[in-house]
Amino acid sequence: MPLSHDPSSLSPEPAHAAAADWWQTGVVYQIYPRSFADASGDGVGDLPGIIAHLDYLGPDGLAIDAIWLSPIYPSPGRDLGYDVADHTTVDPLFGTMADFDRLVEGAHRRGIRVILDLVMNHTSDQHAWFQESRTDPSGPYGDWYLWRDPAGLDSRGRPQPPNNWLSFFGGSGWTWDEGRRQFYFHTFLAEQPDLNWRNPAVPDVQMDMVRGWLDRGVDGFRLDVFNVFYKDAALRSNPSAGSHRQAWDRQLHIRDKDQPELEEFLARFRAELDSRPGRMSVGELFSGTTERAASLTVPRHLVFDFMLLQQPWSAAAFGAAIDRIERAFGPDRWPAIVLSNHDQPRPASRLSKDLGEAHRDAVAKAAAVVELTLRGTPFLYYGEELGLGDIDVPRDEAIDPPARRVGPEFRWWNRDGCRSPMPWTDGPNAGCAPPGVRTWLPLVPDARTRNVASQTADPDSVLSTERRLLRTRARLRPLHAGSLERIPADDPDVLAWLRAAGDERVLIVVNFAPRPVQTVLGSALGGTTWTPVDGTHREPGPAIGPERRVFLRPLEALIATEAG
Ligand code: GLC
Repeated sequence: MPLSHDPSSLSPEPAHAAAADWWQTGVVYQIYPRSFADASGDGVGDLPGIIAHLDYLGPDGLAIDAIWLSPIYPSPGRDLGYDVADHTTVDPLFGTMADFDRLVEGAHRRGIRVILDLVMNHTSDQHAWFQESRTDPSGPYGDWYLWRDPAGLDSRGRPQPPNNWLSFFGGSGWTWDEGRRQFYFHTFLAEQPDLNWRNPAVPDVQMDMVRGWLDRGVDGFRLDVFNVFYKDAALRSNPSAGSHRQAWDRQLHIRDKDQPELEEFLARFRAELDSRPGRMSVGELFSGTTERAASLTVPRHLVFDFMLLQQPWSAAAFGAAIDRIERAFGPDRWPAIVLSNHDQPRPASRLSKDLGEAHRDAVAKAAAVVELTLRGTPFLYYGEELGLGDIDVPRDEAIDPPARRVGPEFRWWNRDGCRSPMPWTDGPNAGCAPPGVRTWLPLVPDARTRNVASQTADPDSVLSTERRLLRTRARLRPLHAGSLERIPADDPDVLAWLRAAGDERVLIVVNFAPRPVQTVLGSALGGTTWTPVDGTHREPGPAIGPERRVFLRPLEALIATEAG
């Protein structure tokens, strides 16, 4: 389905020598389908719900360039969709294939691309492949998963796992199967067995599935935990990493992920995508560094690096993270900029924790300026544009299965917090589900005042600010296609950077403190005058003259262009 409104026409020019693609210049918006909008009235969001809200995302709304849907495939829901029972179709919970086609058509009509979440490392234990593999070891699927004999028996005659690999969701990564009398490996839950990527039939079948979705008009894919697909061929144990609080951190994960064969697969995967113009891919780096994310950023492929997402709200922390990302990616690799997703506390809660609730919206607006002006493709997570906070779910009401299993010491505990229903209105169920329906997770407590309708009506809301900033980003080429240079400021709470494309330059200055500041910026600015054109505040502050002195209100971030 061709796009009738081509977002890349906003600025088709290249960042460097090679032409920039839409996914380089654009902004991606992540939808967690369970929580976006429930049209069917079962308390769980669905595809018709998303279709009903496409105008919110389209050119007259947020004007984002693509939506990424967290998994929509049939799933027993043990990891809420990341345990897939059939990768080729849509879960009836979310709708039908006809709904999916309508969604793609409606999105494309508005210039919005559709990105699917591919969970290829593992399947659900209810997937037909695993069922066959489990019951028929010598059959065609016998070797599709990581089955191994026990290393031996313990003193009580119990089978011992083949090596020391762990499940990220707690305990050993090996589960004993009485039927096959072997262990199988799972990086996540026992209900999510890992596929054996060294069996060539496995990547082959994944590529068939990829082609099927491309044929249906899908514009790109997010690859779930892609650096885990291949494990050490001999399944050797991981070496020790010394003492750490979490068991996962006590191993150096050099054998259960990050194997060189991944790069061959990525080349094959990209070649398939490149056989059709404009298809994007982004890999989710699981448990890795910024440098690793950069090294897996192969041509035309993005990689999530979670460095920014892990920083507290301080100029020093963000400055160091930006420098590290820029150093690791260098001028020729394009980063992905992420402040939130479905696995992490929401930034409005997380970043304003130390300053207090009264500063939450101001921090959310300043964080939006940061996210939309760094070098890279921003990925927004639904609700981020409202400054939505986390919900507090008591331990005995937790829904997220790993949280139920592992408890508060778990790094991702409890992901329910960031998955609450999208508040659309101040009506019943915040307009996210029909009245009287019980939504699968509770709403945020401030949904009556913090919702799309009320924030649309308020020109100073987080939402109105985000919409404005998204337009400014699209309009100013250096913001979506330019290089980045950090500029020193003499106040430790201020960060500044320059974006440049050709001879156009844009200056960004951010005050991380809830107090007014006055600071002098470094000489790289040159002797020109800079005019603030946008930022956290609707009325931009005074121009910055050749003396390079900037006045910023509490938590103000500004975007300025060179005068004349
Ligand atoms: C990814 C997903 C996460 C999921 C895990 C296992 O990290 O983001 O939600 O639990 O993979 O599939």
